[in-house]
Amino acid sequence: MTDRLQYGTTAKVFHWLIVALLLVQYPIGWLMPDLHRNTKPGAPMIFHISFGITILLLIVLRFVWRLTHPVAPERSLPPWQRLSSEAVHWLLYVLVLATTVTGWLFASFRGWAVSFFYLLPMPMLSSGNDAAGKTIDGLHQASEWALLVVIGIHVAAALAHLFIYRDRIMQRMLPG
Ligand code: HEM
Ligand code: HEM
Repeated sequence: MTDRLQYGTTAKVFHWLIVALLLVQYPIGWLMPDLHRNTKPGAPMIFHISFGITILLLIVLRFVWRLTHPVAPERSLPPWQRLSSEAVHWLLYVLVLATTVTGWLFASFRGWAVSFFYLLPMPMLSSGNDAAGKTIDGLHQASEWALLVVIGIHVAAALAHLFIYRDRIMQRMLPG
């Protein structure tokens, strides 16, 4: 299969939809009430879990799309930038997956019955398990912070291309 030279509309829609959902997801995560031993999930947690599962579905679909519709790196980039951008993009996929799966495992180990946006019952990955829940909570927090750091690097690189290198990298992900 020959790699495309530009991102298509589907890849761009996936990219910006996930950015928008993460912009909602982090504030809900930080602002929702702290959990205690017998806390039952309230509305903020139900929305956090529902947006999180939506992000998980989208990142899996997007990854399948990327594998079946590969895009070549911009030819004008020096080799070190091609390599580092590929590495950062892979890391972003892995960390979104890790953050969503650890969140889902954590909610499952709490033994909660939760609905997806109050519409459908949410399948859980296991039944209640307090000890496993504690470990996985730490992993959800570690992956959520690691993801934030890598997003910071990615956005800083995009801004460097826009304002310092003044090349067409940013335009590759914009509409049109
Ligand atoms: C990429 C998607 C996600 C992001 C960015 C994210 C982010 C966060 C953040 C910022 C917190 C607050 C924790 C802290 O104080 O540091 C949190 C907590 C939590 N998240 Fe997520 N989350 C995501 C996906 C999910 C998913 C898919 C689920 C469940 C299906 C989930 C379940 C939870 C639970 C149960 C907590 C409470 C943990 C606690 O307070 O100790 N998260 N998440
Ligand atoms: C304001 C925020 C953001 C900007 C300006 C931005 C910009 C860009 C640009 C310009 C590209 C194309 C790079 C190239 O030509 O190879 C790109 C690709 C990518 N971005 Fe972002 N991005 C942002 C946020 C995010 C976030 C939050 C994620 C987290 C999942 C993300 C994940 C990716 C991935 C995985 C790719 C590679 C696409 C692929 O080849 O599959 N971006 N981004």
